Amino acid sequence: MNTTTHQESGQQMKVLVVGSGGREHAIAQALSKGRDIVVYAAMSRINPGIAALSKEYLITRETASREITAFCTKHQIGYAFIGPEVPLEAGIVDSLNAAGVLCVGPKKMAARIETDKAFCRNLMKQYNIPGLPGYHIFPGPDEAIAFLKTTSSDYAIKPIGLTGGKGVRIMGEHVDLEGACEYIREINGGVVIEERLIGEEFTLQAFVDGNHLIPMPLVQDHKRAFDGDTGPNTGGMGSYTLPDHLMPFITDNEYNLALGIMNDVIAALAAEGTPYTGILYGQFMNTAKGPMVIEFNARFGDPEAMNVLSLLESDIGDVVRGVTSGTLDATRVSFARKATVCKYIVPEGYPDNPHAGDRITTGDAGSALLYYASVVREDGHLITQSSRTMAYVGIGDTLEEAEKIAEDAASAVQGPVRHRRDVGTMDVLKKRISHMQEIR
Ligand code: AMP
Ligand code: GLY
Repeated sequence: MNTTTHQESGQQMKVLVVGSGGREHAIAQALSKGRDIVVYAAMSRINPGIAALSKEYLITRETASREITAFCTKHQIGYAFIGPEVPLEAGIVDSLNAAGVLCVGPKKMAARIETDKAFCRNLMKQYNIPGLPGYHIFPGPDEAIAFLKTTSSDYAIKPIGLTGGKGVRIMGEHVDLEGACEYIREINGGVVIEERLIGEEFTLQAFVDGNHLIPMPLVQDHKRAFDGDTGPNTGGMGSYTLPDHLMPFITDNEYNLALGIMNDVIAALAAEGTPYTGILYGQFMNTAKGPMVIEFNARFGDPEAMNVLSLLESDIGDVVRGVTSGTLDATRVSFARKATVCKYIVPEGYPDNPHAGDRITTGDAGSALLYYASVVREDGHLITQSSRTMAYVGIGDTLEEAEKIAEDAASAVQGPVRHRRDVGTMDVLKKRISHMQEIR
């Protein structure tokens, strides 16, 4: 970009962040580092980090499309960055677009790639997109249970709609046949029964402008509540990236297949007349047969956003303009070639019986970045809520260095909270590598 256009586009850019978690704090932080960006926020409760970065904020339900749109009109906000999936499902982008606000986030129909698992699987099938596990869709419990009773294989059981990342039960892992049937009765609605995939999971996120995508560094999340990948699934306990932006248990060919699948999905959505604009999150299981799609999300992952946005080197204003105007340019998006480790601090009892309302104190965080999530500040003290509290991100030249920074900061927090000590450790990475070797 030459100096003249730089100055022309150098007018203030007002960007609204919707959402109140760690992911949205990371989005707001990245925006606040952008050239001439003024951050506004709409959140369901005051996130102390987002509030500190925002010129003004609106406290409201994140699905209150009309109110949020009116807030944008009042403050002449031209752009919005939608963090969570629930407002996307409620059509917040349709509403904001109608008022002239350009959004990083898909319209309701395109967001079905996440919000409607049956739509996602059927789209992949219709467009012959690779990486599709065997699946069966049932409108209700009776048909689903009847099906399970006719087979002897293990399956993944998922409600069709949104579940906050906690709705999947894997037979042979979380439940037996009886437990699976019980869970299906509990869901008591549409259910997807999928082939159980065995392998190593990874996340590929991309900026998407309707027709093109720009991939971000690969991330691996840690879904289970406790060290050693034990306990129930959570929204994600922590995640890491490596300096080469890849993972040692994924070959170049497998990476390219995963990227190809993401491109195919963008093309399919465009062909359906519902072009995709925003962040596309691909969750893959790398299997003996290559990468298979676990699911797509229509937004950044939480915690994965904190890893990649902490590495973004290019101007995020350019990225936002590129995404929303269909002019994304890969040469203008770059990420630091460093490792990151993100560790979430969560309340005791999370996720099944989280304790809330406890005071916590932070210690010496060294060079770790702190992103607030489900935590409020009262009388100068941080008070936990029932969801994930806050996260530390360590950045280093090596994974070990990044892990130590995050671990030291996380273990210096005092109060009835905990974190996974094994996130981002070399031990875990080695386990991932040898697991993949066994499978191949
Ligand atoms: P989701 O809510 O779809 O992100 O799934 C949560 C977790 O369930 C994933 O991170 C996987 O560990 C697991 N999972 C989902 N689908 C499958 C599958 N078809 N086979 C094996 N594991 C799965
Ligand atoms: N970390 C997984 C998610 O955001 O869905």
